[in-house]
Amino acid sequence: MQTDLHRRDLIGDLDFSKEEVETVLDVAFDLKRKRALGELHPYLRDKVLAMLFFFSSTRTRGSFEAGMAQLGGHAAFIESKTTQIAHGDTPVEIGEIFGRYYDGIAIRHVDWKVGNNYINDVAKYSRSPILNMQCEIYHPFQCLADLMTIIEKKGRDLRRRKMVVSWAYAASYQKPISVPQSLILQMPRFGMDVVLAHPPEFKLMPEIMDLAQEQARKFHTGFEVISDPDGMEKAFQDADVVYAKSWGAMLTTEDASEGAKIISQYKHWITDAKKMKAAKDDAIYMHPLPADRDVEVTSEVMDGPNSVVFDEAENRLHAQKAVMALTMA
Ligand code: CP
Repeated sequence: MQTDLHRRDLIGDLDFSKEEVETVLDVAFDLKRKRALGELHPYLRDKVLAMLFFFSSTRTRGSFEAGMAQLGGHAAFIESKTTQIAHGDTPVEIGEIFGRYYDGIAIRHVDWKVGNNYINDVAKYSRSPILNMQCEIYHPFQCLADLMTIIEKKGRDLRRRKMVVSWAYAASYQKPISVPQSLILQMPRFGMDVVLAHPPEFKLMPEIMDLAQEQARKFHTGFEVISDPDGMEKAFQDADVVYAKSWGAMLTTEDASEGAKIISQYKHWITDAKKMKAAKDDAIYMHPLPADRDVEVTSEVMDGPNSVVFDEAENRLHAQKAVMALTMA
């Protein structure tokens, strides 16, 4: 067990070693048990977390805010547009000043080619730890909650388990590529054979793909890419974990209307009962939410017996509390 996480940032999924992620999981399971028993666990009494949002949220805001209160502290919700950021406060001011007011700074900024640089720039100037609530490259807290959920459903030994990370059709907007990127980086470290499936235009960042291949080699796990217009059904074959969500075609075009045109060609990439039949009988269906119901996934699957989406959303709370307790105490 590695426990030296005090004041550490969590911005990219690989910022914590595998052993450190194991520690986070152990603490998260303990905190989940304590909450179930009504045992108080005020490890962050009088500590305050700034939650700076440049983009909307349901789960991330709710779980960080509730988590800080349950740890005995407070979370300050700050929408970027209500600050002076548009009037001159740069990452230097945010890092220097918020780093002195707050015991941790959590930031969500998913703007393409902007968000991750912004979070790293704030980190350079902050004396408090920086927690990435999602940028355009990574969604590390979602991924920790996902890993916790998979362990709950499939056990701690995930070797030879097949996990499909698949693109899915959704018309609402060009969603960030951070969730699939985080998954392909983190899951090989825990033994899963990952199959990434997407239509040809929905590639992930080449440097992330290289890192994911490297992790798979290092941990002796499989990493296969299916990049064909009809690859979804094929990818689901014999899967233990089906994680299918939409993301944008940002690596093909940064033009939103061109992206929407490309997306519209792939309406058949919906997770439905027929496709789920190709997976193992006890396969779990995962999605970080929000999902476009009956567009990205049928309600039959989302509300069906194989779906674990609400346990997955709950685990955001426990995984985040673990990281906050370990980094901010
Ligand atoms: N999964 C997730 O990050 O949800 P929100 O966008 O609602 O925070």
